Amino acid sequence: MALRYALLASLLALSLGCDSFPNGTDHAFHWWSCGAADGVSVSAVQPVNPDGSPQYPVRLDQDLHIAVDLINNNRIFSKLSLDVTVWTWSGLFKCGWKQIPTFGLLEDLDACDMSLTCPLKTGSGPITVKLPFSKYGIIIRLLKNNAPYQLKYELSDENGNVAYCLMAQTRALTK
Ligand SMILES: *[C@@H]1O[C@H](CO)[C@@H](O)[C@H](O)[C@H]1NC(C)=O
Repeated sequence: MALRYALLASLLALSLGCDSFPNGTDHAFHWWSCGAADGVSVSAVQPVNPDGSPQYPVRLDQDLHIAVDLINNNRIFSKLSLDVTVWTWSGLFKCGWKQIPTFGLLEDLDACDMSLTCPLKTGSGPITVKLPFSKYGIIIRLLKNNAPYQLKYELSDENGNVAYCLMAQTRALTK
C-alpha cells in the first residue's frame, strides 16, 4: 500500500495545470524512432483494438495493442527484453513531460512472454506488439483520464544492445 500512496502523491503533484495536447495528439498518434540495431526499422505504427480496427484515443486501462510494420534485416532475435517508460504532460505554468514513477514494474520485462511473438524473424511485415498495461490497472486508474501521455517502448537483445526503440505520444483514456 505504501507504493500506492507514494504513487498517488506524486501523481497528484503532476496532474495540475496543463490541458493542451502537444504534437497534434488531440486527434492523432505521434511516434518516432529512438534507436535501432543496424537494418532494423519501422515504417508504420498504429494503435489498434483487439479486432485490428484503429484505436484512438488509446486505452491504457487495457493491454495496448500496436500494429507495426517492421523491417528486420539484422538477424533473428530469439530473446528480447522490454523496458517501458511512461510520461505525463503537465506543469503549473509551463507544460513538460514528467516521467511517471513505476518503480521498476515496467523494466526488464520478457518481451517474448509479454509483448511479442518470438523469435523475431528477419524480413519485413506487419506485427502486433502488446503493452501489458492491464496488469497495472491499479496504477493506471490513478492517472489523469483523456490526457496526453508519452510512452517509450524499448527492446534490447540478449547482450543489452537496443534492437528497437519507439517513442510515442498519444491521447489516452485511463478509466
Ligand atoms: C514532438 O515530436 C518531436 C518528434 O517528432 C519531438 O522531438 C518533440 O520533442 C515533440 N514535442 C513535444 C513537446 O513533446
